[in-house]
Amino acid sequence: MSRLQPLRPARLRHGQHFTRPRIRHLAVHRGISTPQLHQLCHQRHHLIPTGIEILICLFDHDHLSLKRLPVPRPPTRTQLIQEAVRRLSQQHPQCPVFSVARSPLKDPEDYLVGQSVVFSAEALLRGRGDILHGRRACVIGFGKIGSSVARLLHAKYLQVTVYDTDAVRMTQALAQGFRTASSSTDALAGAGVVICATGNLALRADDFARLANGAYVASVTSADDELELAGLDVLYDRSPAGDHIARYATTGHYFYVLNDGNAVNFLHGASVGVFIYLIQAEILAATAALAAGHPEPGLHQCDDDTRKFIAATWLQVFNGAP
Ligand SMILES: NC(=O)c1ccc[n+]([C@@H]2O[C@H](COP(=O)([O-])OP(=O)(O)OC[C@H]3O[C@@H](n4cnc5c(N)ncnc54)[C@H](O)[C@@H]3O)[C@@H](O)[C@H]2O)c1
Repeated sequence: MSRLQPLRPARLRHGQHFTRPRIRHLAVHRGISTPQLHQLCHQRHHLIPTGIEILICLFDHDHLSLKRLPVPRPPTRTQLIQEAVRRLSQQHPQCPVFSVARSPLKDPEDYLVGQSVVFSAEALLRGRGDILHGRRACVIGFGKIGSSVARLLHAKYLQVTVYDTDAVRMTQALAQGFRTASSSTDALAGAGVVICATGNLALRADDFARLANGAYVASVTSADDELELAGLDVLYDRSPAGDHIARYATTGHYFYVLNDGNAVNFLHGASVGVFIYLIQAEILAATAALAAGHPEPGLHQCDDDTRKFIAATWLQVFNGAP
């Protein structure tokens, strides 16, 4: 085992890679011969970027098998925010803090974001002469955005499979008529379009190998937060395949990633029209409450009456407005 030390993560310097042919070989064969091990052990500078799973070699009778050793990943931005909010609510902040994150006035925006995601994904596909119809869809994350995405895809007559790590969300998806999958692997099987709406690394490096040939992958948030694309360059050749579409290909497998894995709807302005004013008005109402100095230290939300007043005012101005 001492000769394997150069492969261990502690010895790896960030950003260096195994050679592409070597990774391909390891990934495809999942086992290497003794002469190859000797060769590998002498390649002290073939390292793996953070986030990908490292393969370590173990003796198994007369050949060597490979075992996966996960490298700790830095938290995503969404995870950092969730952790900060969790701490904030537990620690009882020393000053008043207003949250509008879960306001019902944000629901219209979230719903319309989901619709804009499908619009943009479809526009990109059509831009290269392809269409959504006839493809099976997979939506990962059935939260506010993902559920809206799933509904629009369903309305376009696509067969939609949903996967969410939260069992409650899965029951909601089932009740709304979606097929659910018990794992992301099952969800991806046969899907021709995959939309990731978790903000929490829906697709990790290994998952890409499970994509159907020719599948399109889109995200609703920053690529870093949703797709572990960093390690793919060592396994796949990446080439442009239309406006804002990248084709990843290796022997016998290829798929497409939209907008470099970033929120696809940002390509078309992510517009939600005048509905954005609802939550902006609630932010102003919260700011006014803070400025008036009324609230005690701690986490606050605007009350129902304030929200109803904002909604009623919005309706007076915008209902029926072009
Ligand atoms: N593109 C845009 O215009 C836009 C607008 C608003 C929000 N967003 C982003 O969209 C993302 C989703 O937002 P939301 O409001 O729907 O969040 P949400 O919390 O309502 O939903 C996320 C869902 O994903 C599930 N989930 C988390 N990790 C998962 C995993 N690894 N695999 C499967 N399911 C998982 C959660 O259980 C949850 O049901 C966030 O990152 C948010 O920042 C994008």
